[in-house]
Amino acid sequence: MKTSVVLLAAGLGTRMKSSRPKVLHPIAGKPMIWHILEAVKTIANEKPVVVIGHGAEQVSQFLEEKAQMVRQEPQLGTAHAVLQAESLVKGKTDLVLVCYADMPLLRAETLQHLIDVQVKNKGPMSILTVISEDPRGFGRILRKQDNSVEAIIEETAASREQLSIKELNVGCYCFNNSHWLWDALHRIPKNPDKDEYYLTDIVGLAAADQLPVQAVTLEDEQEAIGVNSRVHLSEVEGAMRSRINRAHMLNGVTLTDPGSTYVDADVVIGEDTTIMPNTFLQGEVRIGENCVIGPNTIIKDSVIDAECSIVASVLEGARVEVRVHIGPFARLRKGAHLMAGVHMGNFGEVKESILGPGVKMGHFSYVGNANIGAETNIGAGTITCNFDGEHKHETTIGEHAFIGSDTMLVAPLKVGDRARTGAGAVVTKNVPPDTLVVGMPARAIKKLIGETGIKTESSK
Ligand code: UD1
Ligand code: CA
Repeated sequence: MKTSVVLLAAGLGTRMKSSRPKVLHPIAGKPMIWHILEAVKTIANEKPVVVIGHGAEQVSQFLEEKAQMVRQEPQLGTAHAVLQAESLVKGKTDLVLVCYADMPLLRAETLQHLIDVQVKNKGPMSILTVISEDPRGFGRILRKQDNSVEAIIEETAASREQLSIKELNVGCYCFNNSHWLWDALHRIPKNPDKDEYYLTDIVGLAAADQLPVQAVTLEDEQEAIGVNSRVHLSEVEGAMRSRINRAHMLNGVTLTDPGSTYVDADVVIGEDTTIMPNTFLQGEVRIGENCVIGPNTIIKDSVIDAECSIVASVLEGARVEVRVHIGPFARLRKGAHLMAGVHMGNFGEVKESILGPGVKMGHFSYVGNANIGAETNIGAGTITCNFDGEHKHETTIGEHAFIGSDTMLVAPLKVGDRARTGAGAVVTKNVPPDTLVVGMPARAIKKLIGETGIKTESSK
């Protein structure tokens, strides 16, 4: 059995009161529509068809190759929206799964179950329903005396008695990709209430044609939280976050306070890593095993290897190798690459730089556009003066160098292996290897070879 998927995302989203298309509002760091696209990934045998309209340019920019797109112009309701996909879907597969793109909590397993039920159904369609005390403006499911599904009535059109019905329309349907489906969609009359063609009316047509409609009732009510307003958006965000946190805990990650741990969808965290409270893992983040992250830490679009500790720090676009210690109060910006065993203490900032294995940068330093060799010590208050007002310049420091406290490294600049700078040096000229420079601007005063003990790995 092959399945086509049609996602409806053309509506105006009036109740969001936003200039941003509703389906692009982020949930756990990804646009709303990303979540339903993920859920249908294993189900769709053809690229999903997304019906776009309101904010079509922005939505199609996000979708790119992820979907086939059709425009619905003007937006005349959910049945009219499905009809826009007719030429792309009709006759191509056995089944058509139609979902609304504003239902990001629906799980792949639930959708698969709906499909399985329809495969066994003698009638043309099956629908997803939920039993809830909170109607949330959803359509109500009307059943006949024999309990078979008779119709869906929208809240605005429901009688008082119908309003008390607790079974609601989730907005997800599986159809046989048959003549009946496309014919019935064309037969749906305009709904007088809103001057729109309601997809929900197709249920009544099937019942009137004496064709059975199966209903699959959600076990987890939360999956049915759709987003029509920003209040719903926050509810979905909360539910999604709990779901993500739970999955990490079941995978062997300790979250000391899940309620204050904000992990985006798709983040990877290794076993036996502990995430402390008030920590945010945003965008594309991968963290290895046996790390301790937080408290009070923001990590965005970064890769952290095993056995690192990062406390009260902010990282963005960073690469951190094994056994690195960061913080408290460190900031890693785009292109910061800390190699194995680096120690970066408080109030440091690193941008577009490589700190080689074992580099120590304990206090109050700025390192930008620099390449620092293994085991070099960056003294407190060191600054790479990388910007001359117009251009950025590189600083290269060798291995086992010792940069004295408060050194200003005026780039472009090269400092050789095992070189040293005195406290407060302003270095404007390249420093050869094994050389001590002091003063302002720093000048060479002696050659170090065979003299003062610069500790190197081999001499320890
Ligand atoms: C809809 C259902 C309702 C169900 C609820 C659950 C209808 C008529 N009503 O109501 O029974 O309980 O969802 O989620 O279907 N859209 C288009 N083109 C349009 C209109 C809408 O693509 O012309 C898209 C929207 O972008 C949205 C989805 O269809 O993603 C549903 O539209 P929405 O206005 O949110 O319907 P609800 O009022 O939530
Ligand atoms: Ca909706």
